[in-house]
Amino acid sequence: MQVVGKIFLSNRLVERLGINVQPLIKVRAGCLVVTTEMVVTPDNRTTYMLSPALAQALYIHRQKRLLIRYDYENAMLHVGPTIGIFATGLPRRGYYEPTSIGAELIFLSNISNTMPGQIYIFTPTSINWDNLTVRGYSYRHSNSGKGTWISSLYPLPDVVYDRVSTRTGEAREQIRNTKIKLMQQPYLKYFNPSFLNKWKVHEMLLTNPWLHKHLPETRPLTTENLEAMLKKHKTLYVKPSNGSLGLGIIRVTQDQKGTLHYLVHRTKRFRSSAESAADFMTKTRKIRADKPYIVQEGIDIATYHGSPFDIRIIFQKNRYGQWQIGKKFARVAARGSSVSNLSSGGKALPTKIIMRAMFRKADLIEEKNKQIKEVCCQVAKTIEKVSQMTYGELGLDLGFDKNGHIWLIEVNSKPRKTTQTELSKIIMRNAFKRPLEFSTYLAGF
Ligand SMILES: Nc1ncnc2c1ncn2[C@@H]1O[C@H](COP(=O)(O)OP(=O)(O)O)[C@@H](O)[C@H]1O
Ligand SMILES: [Mg+2]
Repeated sequence: MQVVGKIFLSNRLVERLGINVQPLIKVRAGCLVVTTEMVVTPDNRTTYMLSPALAQALYIHRQKRLLIRYDYENAMLHVGPTIGIFATGLPRRGYYEPTSIGAELIFLSNISNTMPGQIYIFTPTSINWDNLTVRGYSYRHSNSGKGTWISSLYPLPDVVYDRVSTRTGEAREQIRNTKIKLMQQPYLKYFNPSFLNKWKVHEMLLTNPWLHKHLPETRPLTTENLEAMLKKHKTLYVKPSNGSLGLGIIRVTQDQKGTLHYLVHRTKRFRSSAESAADFMTKTRKIRADKPYIVQEGIDIATYHGSPFDIRIIFQKNRYGQWQIGKKFARVAARGSSVSNLSSGGKALPTKIIMRAMFRKADLIEEKNKQIKEVCCQVAKTIEKVSQMTYGELGLDLGFDKNGHIWLIEVNSKPRKTTQTELSKIIMRNAFKRPLEFSTYLAGF
């Protein structure tokens, strides 16, 4: 067995961690484990120090403050947390749209500089599988105002926060293989592993009877399903299973003569009509481009100043591994539009304003907020249970109908968060920080 360097532990810390004094001890950082000499120093404070040789072997950089714990299960000291933010590429330009993944990664990196532990961004090509290290990147602001990425070698992390931000990125073989290999590492925890598909989400949520009254009826789009759904509902939403940003959504209604009128949301909106479900399928074939679609009961969404709105919730796990509402705002659809995505011209407003206009009484508003939270909790727990994956954040779109009943419109496993906000800056910052705090919890600290 190779013994590398020393770890100095104050006797107070040894007491606190509840470990026996022994000549040798294993120390872990991320996925790296090193056996080292244990030296106990008389000190009333709970302090520890790694010898330079040990720090080097564990790829621990001097300037960072790391936490320490005793991992009973594996009988080793653990310093960290080491958190890797997995991305497809590094943002290289000086300026990014506040809604872009580039701006998001820079913002995340800036926040991580204020937290204990080694937190870095990495891409598939930065991993060295032979020695379980990674070239990790963090963003430093320079005096010129233009930041740069500083890279260092780190251990493969305790926790991977998946920020692969597009479905095409996720589908790339290199990304898929890297993900599988990471998940196989014995000490590594991985969260927000993949995009969700609208149909799969619906199937997962159906396993929870409590949720049924909040789920619009949904089926995979086929001519038969469309026919059946037309008989039951006044309005239908036909949506790409893997869509986002409101793109490709078709809103369908049927008049007394049986003619279907539909409105397609693409880069441009357009209206058309069809004689039957089969005719609709033919006429929209090109738009649907062989992609999987669902057909969903249209909810008679409540309006604010004449425009339908929904509630977007960023639901996140916190420092204690518990779900909480990280951010909540209403999105009011653009005039005349039936989708309220911000990218389709929707406008963000504090939910307070909308709730007051809709429910008026304080106790009713409180009751509705409680219900919203309960729906979010049930959705998150069901998805985790059925998929057997860990999620640290989810984006939920909820809608109220005209009677004030809550409906779940969509669940997004990779919600994009803007770094710019007309709402609270503190809430925005916390919404970015929380997944890193959850990572710290997942790492065991
Ligand atoms: N079943 C529905 N009933 C009423 N409005 C809907 C329905 N489905 C979608 N919408 C409207 O369209 C928007 C986009 O739909 P969503 O399912 O969230 O797809 P996307 O992934 O494109 O965001 C919603 O925010 C909502 O405003
Ligand atoms: Mg949506």
